[in-house]
Amino acid sequence: MATKKRKKKRLRLKSSFKRFLIYFAFFLIMTIYTVKESYAIYEDFKYKETYEYKIMQVGYSEEETKKLIEVLNEEKLNFLLENKYNETYYPIVSQKYYIDKYFLKYVEYKEYHESTSYEDVIAIVNVHANVGWYNETFDTNIKNNYLMLVNKFYHLEADYVRDDIKKISLAYSYDGNSAAEIVIENFKLMREDVEKELGVRLMVNSSYRSYSDQNEIYNSFKSVSLQYADSYAARPGYSEHQTGLALDITSLEHKNQKEFTESEEYQWLKENCHKYGFILRYPEGKEHITGYNTESWHFRYVGKEAAKVIHDEDITFDEYYAYYIAN
Ligand code: DAL
Ligand code: ZN
Repeated sequence: MATKKRKKKRLRLKSSFKRFLIYFAFFLIMTIYTVKESYAIYEDFKYKETYEYKIMQVGYSEEETKKLIEVLNEEKLNFLLENKYNETYYPIVSQKYYIDKYFLKYVEYKEYHESTSYEDVIAIVNVHANVGWYNETFDTNIKNNYLMLVNKFYHLEADYVRDDIKKISLAYSYDGNSAAEIVIENFKLMREDVEKELGVRLMVNSSYRSYSDQNEIYNSFKSVSLQYADSYAARPGYSEHQTGLALDITSLEHKNQKEFTESEEYQWLKENCHKYGFILRYPEGKEHITGYNTESWHFRYVGKEAAKVIHDEDITFDEYYAYYIAN
């Protein structure tokens, strides 16, 4: 009798333990599920707070969003959220020479010049050409030495003269030419190599020009027309010739500028002058960036390092300065 009772009791205990286990397991599963759910809700809430989510909500693709977040600061990202989807933002920030402080200027320029390529929009704004030649001017930073920028926006004081201007030998220049010492040295080396390789003798036609020399030249061009003068000559104070770092070069064999443009020495100079620290300053196809008609004769000394970058990246000195020096 007693054993039966004990058995029954054990059985009751067993089944209540089983029930407990089932309830416990159920409770555990529910707890895990609830925690997981709450975590997912929290995660979702947190994600919705991110720029990634918000920017994609405006309509940008995942790729565009990633790039915009990578490039733009918080202020600009908020600006982007306050505005409708803009198809120009992504291509603008993806350009190699993009400079953050000009973001809105690029956007505005592209809006009014739809057919201008993104590459050009960036270049034009970077060099200030969007405001129009001579419309906004700055003092040239002469501390940049042979990397100083002089163009239709950056100018020199009327009395600026380098202190290492030397006369150029009549063996390779016409009378009255002078330039910075480093320019003469490198021109000599380049000239020797051109003569060795092509049997042609380079000559300096024009080099350092004072403010008043430039004034005279500009005025003589202006007597034809203002547009003509501004396409070929710099206004006084705005000429690279005043820096003592620019040389107008042709050869004894091709004195005429048109012939020189078609000569093999001109091709050689375009390909090799960077090895001597020079660049072709006003190349063809870059008139909208330099502000001048192409000049096959005007070479500027910028040093070997900058000259190589300018040559390899096929950019103008104006673009180089904006991105690599002033930025
Ligand atoms: N011809 C160049 C632009 C000058 O006058 O400086
Ligand atoms: Zn020149």
